[in-house]
Amino acid sequence: MPKTSRSTFDPGGFSNLDAIGEASQYVSYLEHTAARLRDLSRARYDLLNLHPGDTVLDLGCGLGEDSRELVPYVTPRGKVVGIDSSAAMIAQARKRSRKFGRSIRFAVGDAHQLDLPDNSFAACWSERVLQHLADPPRAIAEMVRVVKRGGRVVLFEPDHSTLIIDAEDRATTRSIVLTLADSIQSSWIGRSLLGLLKTRGLRDVLIIPTPLVSYDLTNATKLLRLDATAKAAVQRGVISAKDARRWFADLKRRQNAGRFFGCLLCFTAVGTKA
Ligand SMILES: C[S@@+](CC[C@H](N)C(=O)[O-])C[C@H]1O[C@@H](n2cnc3c(N)ncnc32)[C@H](O)[C@@H]1O
Repeated sequence: MPKTSRSTFDPGGFSNLDAIGEASQYVSYLEHTAARLRDLSRARYDLLNLHPGDTVLDLGCGLGEDSRELVPYVTPRGKVVGIDSSAAMIAQARKRSRKFGRSIRFAVGDAHQLDLPDNSFAACWSERVLQHLADPPRAIAEMVRVVKRGGRVVLFEPDHSTLIIDAEDRATTRSIVLTLADSIQSSWIGRSLLGLLKTRGLRDVLIIPTPLVSYDLTNATKLLRLDATAKAAVQRGVISAKDARRWFADLKRRQNAGRFFGCLLCFTAVGTKA
């Protein structure tokens, strides 16, 4: 197994970050993944149908990367409100957004129960958050409640059981994929989005699948936390430490030969409040 400096990184840790106490590895993870996903995110902001003067909600904002990107869509006069359940993330988001002044506001809050008035936002953006929630349907109902009639809800979520990795040992590959999916609270959220949006007062629901392809083992390991996941699979007794070592050695050989291949399916979901 590759050595990792993030030995305490738990793939499901985003569900309750402040309980972990040590947020730095999650901050680095978000910096890395946000950079990897930036172009994809930028291509989707137009789906929010924002105009200057609007107020937009970034729910589960993390470091506030999308919040900052959304400022030019609503200024002058409008603002972005970033909400996250982690006080550590909100502190980071505030620190990184000082130059934006009053166009961004961040607050700690729970997506399941937003302390925000009905019909108060032009649109809501939420990226890679529902997967970490105990009750995604409730959070979607909250998003719909706080968005104005005719406003858009735009979500982006992976579905971790769709991870494919080309490897010699299929049994170990399956076990590692299952361990990854099982470590995340709502790992089937990607495939559930269509049904959830349609049954929660949204019309014109559109689902856009995006395969995130990786030809690089180091990058895939960072993005998908393969090292921590393999370690968890060993701890749970699903695979042996020897299986894990052999699996990574095989992947390394593939990488060196330029034939590493991994792919995770993610889904953008868009709906309009009826
Ligand atoms: C994978 S991060 C994504 C952050 C950001 N949206 C991005 O794309 O960079 C998931 C975020 O959801 C937050 N989160 C988890 N449970 C939450 C809840 N119940 N309410 C609000 N935010 C939550 C975490 O603290 C974390 O910042």
